[in-house]
Amino acid sequence: MEITIESRSEPCTFQCDGDERILFAGLQGGFTLPYDCATGSCGMCKARVKSGIVDVIWPEAPALAKLQRSKGDILMCQSRPVTDCVLRVPANVVSTAVGPTPGHGEGVIQNVRRLTGDVIHFELVLKVPMPFQAGQFAVISVPLIPGGRAYSMVNYAGGTVLEFVIKKKPGGGISEWMFTGDRTGSTVAVFGPLGRATFRPDEDGDLICIAGGSGIAGIVSILEHATAAGHFDRHKGRVFFGVRTLNDGFYLDRFSRLAEASNGALDVYLAMSHEAVTPTRHPDFAHIRLASGFVHDVADAHLETDCAALTSFVAGPPPMVDGAIRVLIGHGVPSTQIRYDKFG
Ligand code: FES
Repeated sequence: MEITIESRSEPCTFQCDGDERILFAGLQGGFTLPYDCATGSCGMCKARVKSGIVDVIWPEAPALAKLQRSKGDILMCQSRPVTDCVLRVPANVVSTAVGPTPGHGEGVIQNVRRLTGDVIHFELVLKVPMPFQAGQFAVISVPLIPGGRAYSMVNYAGGTVLEFVIKKKPGGGISEWMFTGDRTGSTVAVFGPLGRATFRPDEDGDLICIAGGSGIAGIVSILEHATAAGHFDRHKGRVFFGVRTLNDGFYLDRFSRLAEASNGALDVYLAMSHEAVTPTRHPDFAHIRLASGFVHDVADAHLETDCAALTSFVAGPPPMVDGAIRVLIGHGVPSTQIRYDKFG
């Protein structure tokens, strides 16, 4: 099927099979179609059908409820074409996408381990390597579970092994599937890499990272790449990791190693929203500082007034990300220097 996109730029055209998502086909074609979550939550991939017929893949997708469907609005990440289509997209769409081009793949789940009572780490061993940049994510789909789910890679070197972390979420489809049995050896589909909240080692400047829960995955990827690239030999970094209680913290060994390797250039704060803490350092990981409060409030209390030269990364649930962005802007970080991923 032929998809024509009318946008604020020149019209563009690409092919899309009847079983492919329009967003994925366009991204594979190198077009800069707008998206955030790629999984039906954010509404960023909204388009209006001017002609043609599309099929909705996941009618329960949360962002569908916000659309004017009677006027032909669709989510490109949840639609596949039944006929040739002309879509109106309220954005600039050009064919100069940067970074690795996303594509479909398949992987086998390996090395599953519990990090806390409600967090699992696992690896996906791919048949074909997937190059990606630190901070990117992929959409994983499991047979018989409708819709895909987005997970950030924890590692940074694009190869045949992708590391992921997944949080327990009642009714969460893939999350529930992972937590109700040993899925080692299961084959799942993957589409990626996706996401523009990436770290590039040639960029200069201090870093601030603010993440909540499993949103920390992409931040670990960024920090490990930055450390390997010698970024903290020249720059400082601060990480604010939000959890509910001390026992909910994970990857603390990884953060501890990163902080130690930085020779004082990287500060890591564990912010606990539901636990008051007296000690200022973690009892088992001396490099990790402790603070009580929501993660964006803890960041607010520890950032200096003028952070205009900093690059920041934010990842987590939408309210946390919105709060962190407000804090960063309040501390003078230009909005162009704030890269974020919202996971619904
Ligand atoms: Fe389609 Fe988020 S990108 S709803």
